Amino acid sequence: MNFRLMAAAAASVLALAATANADEALTNASTLRALGAQVRLRIGTAANPTTLGDAALSQIIADQFSVLTPENDMKWQVVEPTQGNFNWTGADNLVNFAEQHGQLVRGHTLMWHNQLPNWLTQGVSGGTISASQLRDLLRQHIATEVGRYRGKIWQWDVVNELLADANPSQIRPNDFWVSNLGPGIVADAFRWAHAADPEALLCYNDYNIAGEDGSNAKHNAAVALIKSLQAEKAPIDCVGDQGHLDLQFGFNQILMTQDLQEFASLGLKVAITEADVRTFVETTDTNQSPVVSPTDPTPSHTADAAATDWYIGMLQSCLIVKACISFTVWGFADSHSWVPGTFKGEGDADLYDVNLNPKPQFTGLQQTLLLARGAPNRGRLRDGDRDHDGDDHD
Ligand code: G3I
Repeated sequence: MNFRLMAAAAASVLALAATANADEALTNASTLRALGAQVRLRIGTAANPTTLGDAALSQIIADQFSVLTPENDMKWQVVEPTQGNFNWTGADNLVNFAEQHGQLVRGHTLMWHNQLPNWLTQGVSGGTISASQLRDLLRQHIATEVGRYRGKIWQWDVVNELLADANPSQIRPNDFWVSNLGPGIVADAFRWAHAADPEALLCYNDYNIAGEDGSNAKHNAAVALIKSLQAEKAPIDCVGDQGHLDLQFGFNQILMTQDLQEFASLGLKVAITEADVRTFVETTDTNQSPVVSPTDPTPSHTADAAATDWYIGMLQSCLIVKACISFTVWGFADSHSWVPGTFKGEGDADLYDVNLNPKPQFTGLQQTLLLARGAPNRGRLRDGDRDHDGDDHD
């Protein structure tokens, strides 16, 4: 064997070894964050001081997720409960936890009508805060918060839930910010965030904007909003679709994929930012066992299968759209979910049950990520492989 042939043989042995290692790594990976990394998709969760402070819960957060979103700790109500007095404890802890565990952070959220401090809303309604003072306060709030975490936030939800639940939809006419400061405040919020951290990806975040309502009403309003922001040269980089689903309503995965792709075609990154799938549960049973309906307490054996299917559907939509950079669940355990507190009689919305056992919803995401990484191999035959007829191929 001449030198060139020997080199080629050695290279092919090395290539086979590399392939074997890669295949082994593929089949050995089982955490969501590792499986996501293999298809360049960050898998995230919302976290809060309770979940980060609990040994078992924080272990799951560290093991399974590569992006964290503070569930409440970066909201204005929490960071500035009284005017001029700041509380960064929860936000700092989350950012530090993320740094220690090789995770990125989605900042949530800067301009939203909800969870505003009383001093601000009462000041406006009582007439002690004028429109120009309110504008200055928002500018200062964004500069302070984004500036504090400059270089540490991957994506910021700059503006949250601005669009009306109506068909056709539009900017909520009574939105706190727009009704007090006019629609131009939306582009300004993005400009102020960009000035405070030019590297962060700046997102518009909302629910039902990727076809979840079946009508595409809010999606169309979101597209119109984004186009107007782009026409105003606002520095918007991404759209977050929250992905809060409920089994009593529909879910159209094809529509979600098309809608995410349409956002991408506007030149934006997209993300699923708050995924969960809730259903009716037995209210006297702390295990959040699903039932058929509030009036029919028969245990629903199909609920977890349906919820798993919808979780998989959302993840697949994100995987199909190249511009989708992260898939985040809004909490991961039924024991620490926002759902029962907000939707009475509903729950069972998460990947883990109340005893922190992974549910089929978790396994469904795992298998979908594994498939996303492994499936292309099916089309690439190598020497010694057998084709689909079972014969050695040429
Ligand atoms: O911290 C206080 C506590 O001191 C008080 O004793 C208790 C009494 O109710 O309330 C606690 O505050 C609660 C807070 O969560 C922290 O737990 C608020 O009442 C409660 O309203 C708040 O709910 C949050 C909700 O946003 C508010 O709109 C949920 O945790 C949070 O998961 C949820 O997250 C939103 C996203 O930001 C935007 N998209 C929708 C999503 C779900 O609603």
